[in-house]
Amino acid sequence: MNYIGSKYKLSSWIQDEVKKVVGEDLSDKIFCDIFAGTGIIGRTFKRDVKQVISNDLEHYSYVLNKNYIENHKEIENKEKYIEELNSLPLIDDGFIYRNYCLGSGSGRQYFSDYNGKKIDTIRKKINVWKDIGRINDNLYYFLLASLVESADKVANTASVYGAFLKHLKRTASKELILEPAYYIENENFHQVFNMDSNDLIKEISGDILYLDPPYNQRQYSANYHLLNTITQYDDFIPKGKTGLREYNRSAYCQAKTVQESFEELIREANFKYIFLSYNNEGLMSENDTKNIMSKYGKYTLKEMSYQRFKADKTESRNHKADSTYEYLHILEKRL
Ligand SMILES: C[S@@+](CC[C@H](N)C(=O)[O-])C[C@H]1O[C@@H](n2cnc3c(N)ncnc32)[C@H](O)[C@@H]1O
Repeated sequence: MNYIGSKYKLSSWIQDEVKKVVGEDLSDKIFCDIFAGTGIIGRTFKRDVKQVISNDLEHYSYVLNKNYIENHKEIENKEKYIEELNSLPLIDDGFIYRNYCLGSGSGRQYFSDYNGKKIDTIRKKINVWKDIGRINDNLYYFLLASLVESADKVANTASVYGAFLKHLKRTASKELILEPAYYIENENFHQVFNMDSNDLIKEISGDILYLDPPYNQRQYSANYHLLNTITQYDDFIPKGKTGLREYNRSAYCQAKTVQESFEELIREANFKYIFLSYNNEGLMSENDTKNIMSKYGKYTLKEMSYQRFKADKTESRNHKADSTYEYLHILEKRL
């Protein structure tokens, strides 16, 4: 997924830096990715560590991580379910088509009519299968994660769901095909939560805590509202032109609350090694971050220049403005 703040491109660098500090062999370590998003960092460490704990405030992220992190054993015949979902006759009375496609008269065009109907058809069938006990939780999250990723590929947006495009773009006019969201199989048991980081931190402990909070005012919950609507598939009245639902407001997206929340997270963390990704344009300055972390143990800083997230790949490129620095703040905490 093209996700704001995704660490996809930085994952090997982060893995290398963690190993330099903690050691090459992480096989007896518990690793927590508490702002998991797409789950790419948990996925990067899933093979290396004894256990991954993954968490995010957003439901779509919970779904992705229930699949990519918590699923670790082979699910038999999973492709057959994907095939079956791909060949169902389409319904035209589902929530997505009625509220987010042009053909229903909603005035919104987040998906082509065909794709909106297909999302509804698949989403409803997954629920039916769960209700009648045809699929278990593991398969449920595998199928739902597959739907989130496949739907996101054909969304008619400039990448986030804050607004839709007036005309169907090329990728959005392609027919949605449900693709399997394959996960890493291994013997270890992993855990996934859907909580506020500052509540969860009081309930868990481990060895390595990776922090990747939002770094500016953009609320993920508003920018990805449609993915929550697909995963939660509940009934509500979409608001305004963009069809927004009620959304979470993270303390990490507000200048007046970010430092206090961040310090509480560090103070409450029962983890020896803490790694924080944050960039040079964040709400907290490099110095604020350093001052907070240094209070709790040995602090170091690593940096790397990085290509900025682009809302739309067709945007004209300004190479100078494209370059931004990504920091990895490291704390060896006194416990
Ligand atoms: C920078 S993104 C993480 C990106 C992730 N590392 C990846 O590569 O996909 C920040 C994430 O923090 C989540 N978030 C924001 N506030 C949160 C909170 N208070 N507790 C838990 N998660 C939160 C957002 O939903 C978002 O997915």
